[in-house]
Amino acid sequence: METNKLFIETYGCQMNTYDSEVVLSILQKSGYTICEGIEEADLILINTCSIRDNAEQRIWGRLDLFMTEKKKRRLYVGVLGCMAERLKDQLLSHPAVDMVVGPDAYRELPKIIALVKAGHREVETTLSTSETYADIEPVRMDKNGVTSFISIMRGCNNMCTYCIVPYVRGRERSRDPHTIVEEARTLFNAGYREVNLLGQNVDSYLWKDPNNPTESTNFAQLLELVALVSPDLRVRFSTSHPKDMSNGVLYTMAMYPNICTHIHLPVQSGSDRMLEKMHRKYDVAKYMERISKIREIIPDASITTDIIAGFCSETEEDHQATMKLMREVGFDSAFMFQYSQREGTVASKKFPDDVPLQTKTRRLNEIIEQQSAISLECNRKCIGNTYRVLIEGTSKRDAGHLFGRTLGNKVCVFPALGHKKGEYVDIKVESCTSATLLGYIVE
Ligand code: 5AD
Ligand code: SF4
Repeated sequence: METNKLFIETYGCQMNTYDSEVVLSILQKSGYTICEGIEEADLILINTCSIRDNAEQRIWGRLDLFMTEKKKRRLYVGVLGCMAERLKDQLLSHPAVDMVVGPDAYRELPKIIALVKAGHREVETTLSTSETYADIEPVRMDKNGVTSFISIMRGCNNMCTYCIVPYVRGRERSRDPHTIVEEARTLFNAGYREVNLLGQNVDSYLWKDPNNPTESTNFAQLLELVALVSPDLRVRFSTSHPKDMSNGVLYTMAMYPNICTHIHLPVQSGSDRMLEKMHRKYDVAKYMERISKIREIIPDASITTDIIAGFCSETEEDHQATMKLMREVGFDSAFMFQYSQREGTVASKKFPDDVPLQTKTRRLNEIIEQQSAISLECNRKCIGNTYRVLIEGTSKRDAGHLFGRTLGNKVCVFPALGHKKGEYVDIKVESCTSATLLGYIVE
């Protein structure tokens, strides 16, 4: 008997997490229910990431495992997301794979699955210039029921030379703000207390009303609309781009106490030569100007970043420039990577991937080590202060402790004292590690 049990596994960024929720919504309408393990599933969908080679290698490993499962029973497997878009037919050559569906084709899934069940193998990877899934109410898969994502735009037009995203996610398009606000309201009414507005470059969000072209909404205005849903709903967003982050956004952040005082502002490198080669469209001076402006308008803002070590032709001097910039800004935390060449990108066509792997790894390790010291220093400055924390759940290490985040996105762990997730508490910080603040509730 057909039970229509679906297992979705998600890799990559928050956008993929959101997309899996869109997919679940679409498939629930065609009779699927989610299940917790692959052993129970009739259909496995794997939502994939292509950002670096190691992300893709993991997926191939998972497909091998699904194949062993397929040998035991009737089971269909679909590959979704960025890797589906990048590799298309190549994925179908894996014996486990029945369908390959790119990020703009999820509405087609019920049709595609029907064809697969009729014995076909299907690939649908057409990218769209308009699809935003605006009318689909995602079925949430988070475990906490407190924090959730809302996609406000899709695609990317930036064309950073190292990055695969524009090729796998297509052109940038913004979603109707009314549907975003409605989604935030629905989440709030369901008990959620934090929404994270997602886009590859939120600062270039721009909605033009098709019925009234003189009416438009930019990101600062959207942020305000979502903040007005309720003072008890925290609003986060990512990712900001240094070339586009406007003072208007900063002033809006400063105006609403429920907009989180955190900006994720990927710098990628501290060398002007590298930034130019990466086609980032800012230099170190411009980046530092944005940092000063953030600190001027939101003095207690947390600033986090992304850094790539060992991009094409990076010298020791370029690397030291990155190390210096990290110290100057004093990032609260960072995501740090070594450069991974992606076929099809401008960098892969124009610049040799000439930094030896050993050197990349060594530089990355230096960056990670330095960042860990800087994060610890930032966190130490919080000791003795009291922060309003939204409780997200029970600490993994100690069932008697809860954890949550400050407005600045710092994770705080503290004794529960009968409080529950979804509540706000004031936490006085007593000690810290480089990743966590430790404290207690003050009434
Ligand atoms: N190699 C390494 N890191 C990359 N990123 C994007 N493309 C690559 C690549 N080819 C990093 C950037 C980006 C983050 C999401 O991933 O730092 O901001
Ligand atoms: Fe997200 Fe980029 Fe990975 Fe796609 S390639 S899942 S957009 S991080």
